[in-house]
Amino acid sequence: MLRCKVTSENSGLRASNDGGKRVSEANPLDRFVRPAFTMYRGDCMAVLNEIDTVDCVVTSPPYNLNKRASGGGSSKMNYEGWYFDDMPERSYQGWQRMVVDALLQKCTGSVFYNHRIRYAWHNRNKYRVPSNVYHPMQWLQDFPLWAEIIWDRRGTTGHANGRPRLSDERIYQIGKPKVFHDMWYTTVWQIPPTKNQGHVCSFPEELVRRCIEMTTNPGDTVFDPFTGIGTTGVVALKMGRKFIGAELDGEYFNLAKEGLLAAESDLAA
Ligand SMILES: C[S@@+](CC[C@H](N)C(=O)[O-])C[C@H]1O[C@@H](n2cnc3c(N)ncnc32)[C@H](O)[C@@H]1O
Repeated sequence: MLRCKVTSENSGLRASNDGGKRVSEANPLDRFVRPAFTMYRGDCMAVLNEIDTVDCVVTSPPYNLNKRASGGGSSKMNYEGWYFDDMPERSYQGWQRMVVDALLQKCTGSVFYNHRIRYAWHNRNKYRVPSNVYHPMQWLQDFPLWAEIIWDRRGTTGHANGRPRLSDERIYQIGKPKVFHDMWYTTVWQIPPTKNQGHVCSFPEELVRRCIEMTTNPGDTVFDPFTGIGTTGVVALKMGRKFIGAELDGEYFNLAKEGLLAAESDLAA
């Protein structure tokens, strides 16, 4: 539900030129508004200031994997197809705490927050912790955790690096859900990742579907502060929920908008 009155359906969207931009350099907000969804282009914290309450959040933030979008120079840490994902770890964890805190203030139900453990043995990891692992619990431990779900990705494309290959991620359900539809899910979800459909790490629809199914009713509003190409929104619309999304990158914003419009017209057909 939006607090501000919307005046235009398409508010003059700018072309994308975001390669390698730091997440802190947010643009003023553009938004694209339809009856069942609103897509904002801009920083999620600015969007959180703009919106009223939502019923559920399903999201996956940048993981701070020390990757930079391609086109930003000759460094071997530039990756084709990536968005900026390279902050000092201490700043990154502080930022994530701030985002989760803001989400909990706006969400009347549960926040589903996807992340993974990252090994931090490399010398470039200046923010040392005794375990040499950056674990999501390091920045989530002060929040009210309702459930921890292991996302078993049914395989891996990762390098061994002298240890078993990583094939799981975590989904933290933060905050008590206001409704609970018991679907007999356990805390291990075996769901293969989707093939790249314009984004290097888009959600599989099934993962989003379960979060929405368990904790919302038709007509409720789902929010994703890191929308990417809009998987959370597309699933929300298919399930008869409303959606609000925020995405910093112009190309992903446009892909999300197209996907959401396609889902909307499929429903109308
Ligand atoms: C892991 S991806 C999300 C993918 C998404 N779940 C999907 O299915 O497409 C994280 C996204 O967050 C975006 N992003 C990074 N910083 C942001 C910020 N401050 N506000 C909004 N979006 C941001 C990135 O551009 C990227 O598309």
